[in-house]
Amino acid sequence: MLQVSGMFYTDDGVLTGPENTAGYTEEEIRVAGSVLGTVGAGQLKKIQREYMERHPHHIPLIFMADIINGFRTVFPIPLAQGCTFDPKLVEEGAAVAARESAASGLHLTFSPMADLVRDARWGRVMESTGEDAWLNGCFARAMVEGYQGRSGLREKGRIAACVKHFAGYGAPTAGRDYNTVELSERTLRDDYLPAYKEAIDAGAATVMTSFNTLDRIPSSANRRLMRDILRGEMGFEGVLISDWAAIEELCSHGVARDKEEAARLALEAGVDIDMMTNCYCRHLKELVESGAVSSALIDEAVLRILKLKNDLGLFEDPYKDADEREEKVLVLCDEHRKTARRMAAESFVLLKNDGILPLAGERTAFIGPYVANAEIYGAWSMFGTPETTVSIEQGIKNRGCGHAYFAEGCILSADFGRSEETAGKLLQEAVELAQKADKVVLALGEHRLQSGEAASRADITLPDCQMELFRQVCAVNKNVVVVLFSGRPLDIREICGQAAAVLAVWMPGTEGGNAIADVLFGDVNPSGRLSMSFPYSVGQVPIFYGQFRTGRPYIEGTEEKYFSRYLDIPNRPLYPFGYGLSYTTFAIGPVQLSAQQMRRTDRLRVTVTVKNTGTVGGSEVVQMYLADVNGSVARPVRELRGFCKVRLEPGEESEVSFEITEEMLRFHDIHMDYVSEPGVFRVFVGDCSETENGAAFVLE
Ligand code: BGC
Repeated sequence: MLQVSGMFYTDDGVLTGPENTAGYTEEEIRVAGSVLGTVGAGQLKKIQREYMERHPHHIPLIFMADIINGFRTVFPIPLAQGCTFDPKLVEEGAAVAARESAASGLHLTFSPMADLVRDARWGRVMESTGEDAWLNGCFARAMVEGYQGRSGLREKGRIAACVKHFAGYGAPTAGRDYNTVELSERTLRDDYLPAYKEAIDAGAATVMTSFNTLDRIPSSANRRLMRDILRGEMGFEGVLISDWAAIEELCSHGVARDKEEAARLALEAGVDIDMMTNCYCRHLKELVESGAVSSALIDEAVLRILKLKNDLGLFEDPYKDADEREEKVLVLCDEHRKTARRMAAESFVLLKNDGILPLAGERTAFIGPYVANAEIYGAWSMFGTPETTVSIEQGIKNRGCGHAYFAEGCILSADFGRSEETAGKLLQEAVELAQKADKVVLALGEHRLQSGEAASRADITLPDCQMELFRQVCAVNKNVVVVLFSGRPLDIREICGQAAAVLAVWMPGTEGGNAIADVLFGDVNPSGRLSMSFPYSVGQVPIFYGQFRTGRPYIEGTEEKYFSRYLDIPNRPLYPFGYGLSYTTFAIGPVQLSAQQMRRTDRLRVTVTVKNTGTVGGSEVVQMYLADVNGSVARPVRELRGFCKVRLEPGEESEVSFEITEEMLRFHDIHMDYVSEPGVFRVFVGDCSETENGAAFVLE
């Protein structure tokens, strides 16, 4: 099936595809079976009506778009959503996105992205929920269930999900987007496939191929990956769509001589929809007629697409939920904004706090390029606007915080937009303001287009102009809180060395400014935990907590040379996965196991007590990690296998339990069988991936 992007009506009523880069003829546009990127109930109903009138086959179009972190109500970027450690909340966000987009006429979103990410140079880490395969699976499932619901795609306010990018797109060599991926079969299966699988098991209606090669074969032509693994082993029966132009790109990869061969390879691999090229619509007919391709392959793809349209109920009602009146009422309504505000606040990670936060109404200077900037919805939010987004300045004013002063300080980055002509003046104003203030909140960060697709960076520090502002402000005021905006973990070791507090707010979305005010003033106690490690420097990436044991494990702080270490930087990240502070403190008690021996059919209970030992209420994310002490192949030093977010008032104590089953201990062994192996396992329960609070048991 051909897909066109942004099909729309011009003022004089002509149906057109503006991003007609593939050189479609008008006739090709008219026979497309789906439309990408056009939204709006009125517009989509008009396109559908004209299409249905024109075509005697009466097969409706399906309208698709990238609704990644919300539609018009924008939620924090997925990487930030991962930091909530709250799949229920993430599901609620996806349901809001579905309601708004369904009313606006959409039927399908290209989300969730279940790609595992471990290299902060890659711009698309912002679209993933982070470096842990198991956590990603929890969130991918939550998103699918949020979009699709549990009662079938016909349900009002639901849209189909698309799991992407199958497979391994999150591991481009050297962190450069679209680059080659080299993964061993075991790494692919143990680490990269599980999150896609979880989304598929949750019922995701569609899957998208990835741009990259895997084992030197581009995904859109990879029969083994798509037919054997995705459909055969993982049991996926839905529609497989190529990524944007990925079929035509088989020619650039050099595995297809021309578009005809590209079409054949993709169809044979089982790709049903050709996104944004005309390989299928130009060549499949002749390929079948010449006998090069069996018509059974076409039938199979067509049937899957018809089934999807039928599951959405489009044959009965091709407009589904498109409704101009409802669109107006739902989009950006108070309830949706409330969820966005809550999710944003829960996604913030307090990286450092020497006691300066929360603010208490002192004379506070809010300085920096992100103070008044409302472009804080992330690179993939195509429907967010600055007009509907709350900046920090606005959020502070909404809250009414007394002595607050505002200054821009410097431009965001010399590479994006304005020149640095006014640099001197902006800096001077900011320093003067900082001098007079009791506390300074510096709102710094990456430009929203410095992360996302085609936005890899080799240097993951803040722009020079911002670092200059930071240094000058710190020189005149010691009480500096940095509010850090980014689409990825950054190298912020200088900032963390000098600032009194650092709050990572990612790209927080529509309600960002209000949520930041909530957290800075302590109305909401921060509870976000890192879904991706902050490296000490870019030299460490890819860095992740679940690395493998080596023959020469280095013990931090020792001076031995012949160990796995760097001469010039530590092995440890600046802040590890799972880390995050609160305005209160928690004590997690020793790990108690229901038994020291586990039979394969047992459920082992792991219990800890957790107590709020501080003076304000707050939430702790209790995390359980497992470590397989000996394996037939090298095992990760530990793996997350449980977490629980508990809210506790000061002095309150609660018991938190997890269950371990044999299934949770499986991996691909020396024979590539997916099994658990008898032996000793360690269990760690604590407040981050580096916790040493542990116990051990033996699997029989
Ligand atoms: C991206 C996909 C996206 C698609 C459609 C591609 O460039 O890789 O993630 O869904 O465009 O917009």
